[in-house]
Amino acid sequence: MAAPVNHTPPGNGGFLIEAFPTADLVAARAAALFFAAAREALVVRGRFTVALSGGTSPLPLFRRLGEAAPHSGIDWGAVHVFWADERCVPPDHGESNFRQANELFLSRLPGPGPVIHRIPGELLPQVAAERYAAELSSIFGLVRRPDFDLILLGVGSDGHTASLFPGMDLAAQVGRNAVSVFVEKLSSHRITLTLPVLNAARQVLFLVTGADKAAIVAAILQGPGGTNYPAALVRPDSGTVAWLLDGEAAARLTRRSRHTEGT
Ligand code: 6PG
Repeated sequence: MAAPVNHTPPGNGGFLIEAFPTADLVAARAAALFFAAAREALVVRGRFTVALSGGTSPLPLFRRLGEAAPHSGIDWGAVHVFWADERCVPPDHGESNFRQANELFLSRLPGPGPVIHRIPGELLPQVAAERYAAELSSIFGLVRRPDFDLILLGVGSDGHTASLFPGMDLAAQVGRNAVSVFVEKLSSHRITLTLPVLNAARQVLFLVTGADKAAIVAAILQGPGGTNYPAALVRPDSGTVAWLLDGEAAARLTRRSRHTEGT
């Protein structure tokens, strides 16, 4: 198993980069961290709040969680599952982030199962964002910023994360917890958690695999200044952020920046 590399980032949280030879080992590490975060939250706070990412990177993790969850000893009834973002599509749509997590993971949990806080992508974007913001307030309270125990994120090759894309006016979202955005390059609306919510998390895990992410990973983790990339702005105020990379995604990082096992 890779030894985490501690980097002292701005802010108080920890910053880890862990590289593994394969995407499957990334998923194994992510699953271990997921269950550890769940157990700690359930003991300390009596509940576990998690926001899942979309895209393809988390699919091996969802499979592992779906397989392991029934014997995990986790009280799933005290787990609240949210999403970092969602496409504006119905829950049974091929593009739905809810659908893939539900099929691979959530539908396999022993009853009564977690409390699912799905982003209603089938509604008008603005309405969906308002409903999701209300759902967040119902669990985290009206005045507090949602402080998730764990948020899973991916990163696009352009440096976006969740549905926060380069060029978006993230400052305009500061007072909000969830917003609807129109993604020009995709010509589609999405609903997303805002950057302040990502940075209020106790723990953020980036799962990044594949050769197509090597350039953006190096630009964000080693580049002159990743502020052009929303993913680079995820530096939890007091929580930790860990980048879990496979060998291909870590290929352009210098040895100094990564620990790998067996490669
Ligand atoms: C989404 C995700 C998005 C994703 C990145 C990486 O809804 O697609 O929230 O931010 O994490 O685009 O996607 P891949 O994992 O498919 O490369």
